[in-house]
Parts: sequence; C-alpha cells; structure tokens
Amino acid sequence: MVATPSPSGSLVVIRRSGSIAVIIPAAGSGRRFGAVHNKLFAALGGKPVWLHSVEKMLAREEVAHITLAISDDDHRTFVKQFDEYLMSDRVRLCPGGAERSDSVACALATFASDPAIEYVAVHDAARPLVKPSDLTAVFAAAQQSGAAILATPITGTVKRCPTPFLSSTMDRRELWTALTPQVFSVALLRSAYARHRGRPATDDAELVERSGHPVSIVAGSPDNLKITFPEDLTIAEAILKQHAEQP
Ligand code: CTP
Ligand code: MG
Repeated sequence: MVATPSPSGSLVVIRRSGSIAVIIPAAGSGRRFGAVHNKLFAALGGKPVWLHSVEKMLAREEVAHITLAISDDDHRTFVKQFDEYLMSDRVRLCPGGAERSDSVACALATFASDPAIEYVAVHDAARPLVKPSDLTAVFAAAQQSGAAILATPITGTVKRCPTPFLSSTMDRRELWTALTPQVFSVALLRSAYARHRGRPATDDAELVERSGHPVSIVAGSPDNLKITFPEDLTIAEAILKQHAEQP
C-alpha cells in the first residue's frame, strides 16, 4: 500500500494493485424474473446482464481475480458466453450452492491464502450498473475500517407492521437499503463464514455484523439496482444509456 499526501494535506491511500479478490455470486435461478433461462443471461445493452458486473471489476487494477459462482444448470451457457465475450485469465468459474451465502462460501474456498490479497469484494452478478466512482469509494472505506458496503438511504416512509392492525412508523433517517459490492478484509470475511452455521442471512455484511465487527456504510448511487423483475431491465436500459451519455 502506498500513502501520499493530498493537496489538502490529509492522507490519501492508494490501494496496491491486485490486492482485492472479487466474488460474484451468479448461481441463482432468477425465479422472480420468471424467464426460461437465468435472468443473468438476459440482454442488457446488447450483452448478458452478468457480463457488465464482471467487466466493471476487470477494469479495476486493484482487482487480482474474479470468481463467478454458478449453478450446474447454467454451466454450459456460462462456458459458451465466456468464449464468446470474455478473454481473461483473471476470471474463473466455480460451482455455487443452494443459498446465496453458500455460493459465496464456495467461491471463498477456491482461493487459498495469498499475502497479496488483502480484501474480498462480493458483488451480485445481478447488479450490472455499479458506478466506478462508487467502487472507488467502497474500496477506500474498506481499507479504512476492514468492512464497508454500498447502500442507499430509504426514501419512502417505512411502517413496521408485525400484525395487520398494529403499525408503527420507523425513523427513515436511520434506514438504508444495502447494495453491493460489500468489501471486507479477507481474514474478517473468512472468519465470519467459518462461524456461519446456516442461519439465514440476506447479505455478507450480516454475517460480519454477527461476528461483532462494525460495517461502514458508503452512500452509493441508486442506479446500482438489482435486476429482480423483468421491468427492472427496462429501467436498467435507460440508466445504461444515461451512463453512456454522462459517464
Ligand atoms: N445467487 C447465488 N446463489 C444462490 C442464489 C443467488 O449466487 N443460491 C446470486 C444470484 O445469481 C444473484 C445474486 O445472488 O446474482 C442476488 O440474488 P437474487 O437477485 O435473489 O437472484 P436469484 O436468486 O437468481 O433470483 P430469485 O430470488 O428471484 O430466484
Ligand atoms: Mg434469490
């Protein structure tokens, strides 16, 4: 790692190249999207959804390698699309698991300890629109705190309603929607996964929180949506066009 003084005098830390391993969970089935094939194979801007996430990460010199966790059902299609679109020995495939956290655990187990790799960034294959400036911000925050995630503030009013007739209003100033990437020191994420005994967790940060380590929130662009339903693809096409006009 190299540290240089910024013009304002504060320290700017420049991440060493190749110090981040990226895991891209891509082993879901896209049930809510409802297509015959995995939603990750749907075309966005003329190429498969999953490829956008991979290309965004490949463009970063801090990223040493990318491991894409995929299901057996999709193996043939991924191999074909790898040949068609992707010529990089920095990207590997590995088998995923039944839950997203199983897929991340499988990917984490494929790379052994390497002193060059200091951080792991987990990024959904279904989030093709993450901005490079948000990657810079979350990588830097993880370097400061050991654990950082992108998130967006909740904009609507949120009601807590444990039974149909008993509602209360949450203070939305404290509420965020978690996005990815979620970036952790390798040791922290490995130990959080080692303690994970299958108790459901909807993201990696939850596992790290359970191990008692605080996770920093980095305000990211709401453009970084997750393709879940077919209408998300329509919105994603519009955002992609806007990014191309105003990168
Ligand atoms: N994922 C994974 N392994 C699983 C389940 C999900 O790697 N067992 C991945 C998905 O491929 C996706 C990301 O985790 O890139 C976020 O999951 P989600 O958006 O829920 O995708 P799916 O699980 O495929 O969709 P659905 O829940 O509608 O079936
Ligand atoms: Mg899912």
